[in-house]
Amino acid sequence: MKFFIDTADLAEIRDLAATGLVDGVTTNPSLVLKSGGRFVDLVAEICKAVPGPVSAEVAATDFATMLKEGQRLAAIASNVVVKVPLTADGLKTCKALADQGTPVNVTLCFSAAQALLAAKAGAAYISPFVGRLDDIGTEGMDLIADIVQIYANYPSIQTEVLVASVRNPMHVVQAAKLGADVCTLPPSVLRQLFNHPLTDKGLQQFVADWAKTGQSILD
Ligand code: G3P
Repeated sequence: MKFFIDTADLAEIRDLAATGLVDGVTTNPSLVLKSGGRFVDLVAEICKAVPGPVSAEVAATDFATMLKEGQRLAAIASNVVVKVPLTADGLKTCKALADQGTPVNVTLCFSAAQALLAAKAGAAYISPFVGRLDDIGTEGMDLIADIVQIYANYPSIQTEVLVASVRNPMHVVQAAKLGADVCTLPPSVLRQLFNHPLTDKGLQQFVADWAKTGQSILD
C-alpha cells in the first residue's frame, strides 16, 4: 500500500519526505487555509519536494471553471493530480481531464455507488472519507471493503482506492488488510505508525547492555 501525506504544510512534507516513506501528497482547500501561502506556488513547491503524485483541488463547483482550474493546476508540474469533488459537474470535469491525459483524484466519496461513477469517469484515484463516516456513527471501513470488492470485479477499472480522512493507525492497518491501493495520512498519524512502547523499552535495554560491553562497532 502506498502512503501519501495529507497536508499542505511544506515543512512537514519536506521532513517526512526525507524518511523515504512518502509516495505522494494530498491537499484540500481546508489544508491550504491552515498552511497559508499562494496555492499555485505551494503546489509547485510540494511537487519539487515529493516526486510522486501531488493532489491539488479545484476551487470552483461548475464544470467550465473546474476544467479551467484543473488545466491550470495540471500545468504546474508533471506530478500534479487534479482533485475534483464527487458531483455531476466534478465527474464531467474528471472525464474531460482524464481524456486529456491528466490524472484526477475524485474526492468527498461517501458511497460505493459514487465510487463506481468515478471509475466510469476515468478517475485515477477515488477518495472515500473513512473518518467522516465514522464521525456520523457508521463504519467507514465498510465502504473501503465494498469499493475494493466492486473494483476487483471489473479488471478494466484502473482507479486506485485512496483511503482518506484517516484518523488513527488502525485505519491504516485496516485499509492495508482490505487491499486498498493508497492511504493518505495526516503527518501525526504517519509519525504514530513508528511508535510502540515495547520498541522503546527494548531499545533502551539494548543500548544499556551494549554500553556495558565497552565495544564500538566503528573502531
Ligand atoms: O484530504 C481529504 C481528507 O483526508 C480530509 O480528512 O480529517 O478533514 O476528514 P478530514
